[in-house]
Amino acid sequence: MSEKTIAVLTSGGDAPGMNAAVRAVVRTGIANGMKVIGVKRGYNGLLENDVVEMNLRSVSDIIHKGGTCLYTARSEEYNSSEGVKKAAAFCNKLGISGLVVIGGDGSFRGARELSAEGIQVVGIPGTIDNDIACTEYTIGFDTAMNTAMEMVDKLRDTAQSHNRCSIVEVMGRRCGDVALKTGIAVGATAILVPEIPFNFEKDVIQKMLNTQKTGKKHFIVIVAEGVGGLEYFTRRIQEATGIEARGTVLGHVQRGGSPTLRDRVVASRMGSRAVELLRDNKGNRIVAMQQGQIVDIEINEALDMKKTIDKDLYKMALEISI
Ligand code: F6P
Repeated sequence: MSEKTIAVLTSGGDAPGMNAAVRAVVRTGIANGMKVIGVKRGYNGLLENDVVEMNLRSVSDIIHKGGTCLYTARSEEYNSSEGVKKAAAFCNKLGISGLVVIGGDGSFRGARELSAEGIQVVGIPGTIDNDIACTEYTIGFDTAMNTAMEMVDKLRDTAQSHNRCSIVEVMGRRCGDVALKTGIAVGATAILVPEIPFNFEKDVIQKMLNTQKTGKKHFIVIVAEGVGGLEYFTRRIQEATGIEARGTVLGHVQRGGSPTLRDRVVASRMGSRAVELLRDNKGNRIVAMQQGQIVDIEINEALDMKKTIDKDLYKMALEISI
């Protein structure tokens, strides 16, 4: 029997730990007698013949590095039926029968299109946002939160020296998970997330005024990117409480840096599972974490799930942030 050829790509926003996943895919593939091809810049590599055969050493010295050695992109051209057909034809030409896609929901939808053209695909959740419904964890989430926490700890120093309020916007697209956990970790007075409605005057301003009476002089407010309004919130806090306020958008710093232990281990486990699925001819699945275990879910079922936020955790955060 001729050796099986699989390919791997990273797509969408990069996330720390993607390299560890690529490494696991390449090494598990080779261990199972497969030829592994690395596709550059997401789906673009399949459209522009930008691929490279990987060997054991092509993934040396990357497990501790942020970013992705395969580069990444959100491909415009691929998002059309012609683009998908072109990518499938390229896969067929190279004898690629299976493809591992490391990315977010958008990248998985792209993978589903390719599977309709006969290529077996397996998705691995890689995004700092933790916004994929079928999995409780996405690669990069832990590193991004730890980065956000460190940055806000620094902001706390200066807010404390000046008796100020630091209002910090963290990433997450439409998901509040980064904001919620970071907010708890930094002891934020208020955490605003898109999934949970809030009344700014009552939940933030009034809370700050009440807390001021207990002697508190500096404050941290965490705002999820999906809520927006940082400038308004900053102005309004200063005006209504008399406390000087400074707004900070943490931005892309949250996407970089060396992955944490958790991200490296989860990425390695997920990468390895993805290849085992392809080895066993099980395509069109998303690798996920559920109750701490690595599982895999049919791609349509996975994409139909709805992401929710942990409301009990949010309630607890509000109770202790006083
Ligand atoms: O999905 C990851 C993410 O960093 C989101 O948190 C953010 O909304 C978006 O990507 C930013 O995208 P870009 O890197 O294209 O500015």
